[in-house]
Amino acid sequence: MSEQEKNELRGLISQIQYKVEAQNERFEKLFALLEDEGHFKGEIREGLLEVKAFLNDPVDTRITNRMSKVLKQVFLTNLPYRSIGDLFKGREDMVEKLRSALGAGKTAAITQVHAIHGLGGVGKTRLAVEYSWRTLEEGKYWGVFFIVSDTAANLGTNLANLAALLNLPEKSSKEQPVIVEAVLRELERRTGWLIIFDNVDSDKSTESLREEIQPRLSAGDILLTSRRSNWPDDIADLPIDKLAEPDAVAYLLEKTDGKRSKSTDDEALAKQVARKLDCLPVALEQAGGYINQVRIGFNTYLKELNESRQKVLSWHNKDLVKYPVAVLATWQTTEQHLGLRERAILRLASFLAPEAIPVELFKSKPELINKAGKLPCVL
Ligand SMILES: Nc1ncnc2c1ncn2[C@@H]1O[C@H](COP(=O)(O)OP(=O)(O)OP(=O)(O)O)[C@@H](O)[C@H]1O
Ligand SMILES: [Mg+2]
Repeated sequence: MSEQEKNELRGLISQIQYKVEAQNERFEKLFALLEDEGHFKGEIREGLLEVKAFLNDPVDTRITNRMSKVLKQVFLTNLPYRSIGDLFKGREDMVEKLRSALGAGKTAAITQVHAIHGLGGVGKTRLAVEYSWRTLEEGKYWGVFFIVSDTAANLGTNLANLAALLNLPEKSSKEQPVIVEAVLRELERRTGWLIIFDNVDSDKSTESLREEIQPRLSAGDILLTSRRSNWPDDIADLPIDKLAEPDAVAYLLEKTDGKRSKSTDDEALAKQVARKLDCLPVALEQAGGYINQVRIGFNTYLKELNESRQKVLSWHNKDLVKYPVAVLATWQTTEQHLGLRERAILRLASFLAPEAIPVELFKSKPELINKAGKLPCVL
């Protein structure tokens, strides 16, 4: 926390103290925490929440608002995605289920209903991320940590990376096990945090999580996302399905509002698009992004999608390709509008892990892009 932020906070606390006319040790404790360089952000947050309890009586709403704003800032997180706000559709029941499944050191898994077992893009990570932002803002957690866990190696590296976020002295150690141990110890010492293990799909990462990590993390909540089902009984399994049609339609209409070329029957057309894409979030997101980028209407998109579908059907083999035709058709529609250079970058990126890829990688090696442009490709 910067000196300026601290000063703002001190001002705010004094104002609250003055308003509620309280000479209370909680206020003193909070001021002391702000003086202490080695303070832990979680403690400041806890102190603030205690002080916030004084605001239950009707006081100046300006103070209440500022307090909420400060609370929203005093947390630790490495969440890789921002909230998509109102564009997040159709998962209110799941958010509520998560609220009751988590709390006081519990573990829950966001999985997929059996019918779409194995297929990605149904919205597991998005649900975990939106749940996290909401609960952070409500003050349920002081920290939310996001760990990409597709392989056991990534699980270890990303857990070790938390040492820097938590500002632990071991962060500069050269030994990964030492750093991981320090992180686990720190989390064990505190409550009020949530850790997300994203994409626990491989046998090795599942084993590492179940045997080495989960038993050490009972002080806070664990949320994992996985394409696997059949988790043991100590993990609340919350399977999600594709979006309901009205939610998929609302998503398409809102996502493209202001950018698509509009027509009077947009609602009916959006329904057709949603059906063609089988209401699968990843396909809806791609379609919306494409419509916005090219600034076309739903009718033009439907036409292009049908053409792509025919092409995809000519080579699609469901034993070899896991994705359904609906997703491949949106992909094909987007891909055919790319220039040679963009296609080459895309092809290169497809060899890398699905996490954020540094732009520098492509900027620093232009010759790679040229070579990739000459590779054969099925699409
Ligand atoms: N409820 C929703 N409302 C709006 N958009 C959503 C929703 N759920 C997911 N999306 C969007 O759909 C896309 C795919 O979702 P996400 O990455 O969460 O899928 P996933 O199930 O985690 O896939 P994978 O198994 O490949 O990790 C993302 O761009 C996400 O923002
Ligand atoms: Mg995911």
